[in-house]
Amino acid sequence: MAKFNVDISNIYDYVSPEQVAAYKDVMVRNHELLDTKTGKGNDFLGWLNLPSSTSDAELKEIQTVANDLRSKSEVVVVVGIGGSYLGAKAAIEALGNSFASMLPKHEDPIVLFAGQNICEDYHKELLELLDSRSYSIVVISKSGTTTEPAIAFRLLKQHLEKKVGKAEASKRIVAITDKSKGALRKLADQEGYRTFIISDDIGGRYSVLTPVGLLPIAIAGFSISDMIAGAAEAENNTSKNVSFEQNPASIYAAARNALNYKGKDVEIMVNYTPKLHFLTEWWKQLYGESEGKEHKGIFPAGVDFTSDLHSMGQYIQEGERFIFETVISVEKPTKNLIVPNDPDNLDQLNFLSGKRYSEVNKMAELGTILAHLDGGVPQIKITIPELNAYWLGYTMYFFERACALSGYTLNVNPFDQPGVEEYKKNMFALLGKPGFEEKGKELRERLK
Ligand code: PA5
Repeated sequence: MAKFNVDISNIYDYVSPEQVAAYKDVMVRNHELLDTKTGKGNDFLGWLNLPSSTSDAELKEIQTVANDLRSKSEVVVVVGIGGSYLGAKAAIEALGNSFASMLPKHEDPIVLFAGQNICEDYHKELLELLDSRSYSIVVISKSGTTTEPAIAFRLLKQHLEKKVGKAEASKRIVAITDKSKGALRKLADQEGYRTFIISDDIGGRYSVLTPVGLLPIAIAGFSISDMIAGAAEAENNTSKNVSFEQNPASIYAAARNALNYKGKDVEIMVNYTPKLHFLTEWWKQLYGESEGKEHKGIFPAGVDFTSDLHSMGQYIQEGERFIFETVISVEKPTKNLIVPNDPDNLDQLNFLSGKRYSEVNKMAELGTILAHLDGGVPQIKITIPELNAYWLGYTMYFFERACALSGYTLNVNPFDQPGVEEYKKNMFALLGKPGFEEKGKELRERLK
């Protein structure tokens, strides 16, 4: 049977197998810190055993609400930002049809997102579209006070209430938030919305396998039980009981830290299918927010190949040598498409005729790995057997566990994000929030 695999053999020109193996004791300690809940941020470990502890009843409850919204909506708008957005977006893009919203007949509602930015055009155009669509809303905010989703929800709530009436709107709005705190909880209770709880001990970027990710994914028509089953297998295969050599999360965390120690400060996540673009965005948040603190951390970047081979490919091949790549390689293609023969052969490409697109793509991948190796870029290769809900769940849990191990290796708290508050304070001060008057004056002075 096909297997998920992490291959680090292409880093050995830069770090030796012994230098990677030297992290073995650190990983044993890190697993211990996680499992005994004695490391930094130990009150945020609710994600750790989530796959194995999610019950069928919980999944059924999510599926029932998803089915209800599916039955009454052409579009479901998911409102959220950061960890309350990226996991669902990544999964829906990875598993869905590339042209889902353009298909003439939809069995599944189209899931759109709001409140992940404050762009006026984006939100105005969304409302214009929703004028002529039947829709529902899933609003997600753990804190219940984040500005971007809060103002987007104001807009959408008013729009929906005007369109279908207040009573019907409250049946079409589902809130996912804290069990008791925050403005969204208060509003949901007041308006009688159906709700799901984000547990206190799960941070936003580790929440994809909670209702935060699972409800939108189920609404889009993908199997959340398969996703949880895959994640549960990953939980098993990355646990402290698995030896260092056999544990993909330990190996990945050790390899990237060993490379970082050798001055490789930027990790570029590479994919060969545009469907994985948002998995990279999710991964960037997970690793960037978890590790980037106390002036430490590998900078997570991403490219979509082969598109970006025609742009960033030049830098990766010949620019500054502080980078390494982590290539996500999907083993089994889902569809079948053959390069056609052309009798004129003006482009001289008939040597490709009859080959599958996926074979051409695979040769691009293998050729690029070798070219970048020759150019001085170490490579970690992560093989995913197939792009389906099971392996996506597996992959996402794997990255979560590896991220926690990696953060503990850097001796930071991988579960907080103190740095994201700074921009908020400035934005509030500049917008005149009561209590921020002095700060506002100071900032306006600086902006003169
Ligand atoms: O990972 C995180 O904790 C953040 O990215 C949050 O998910 C993001 O800021 C949104 O927060 P909230 O769900 O409280 O609105």
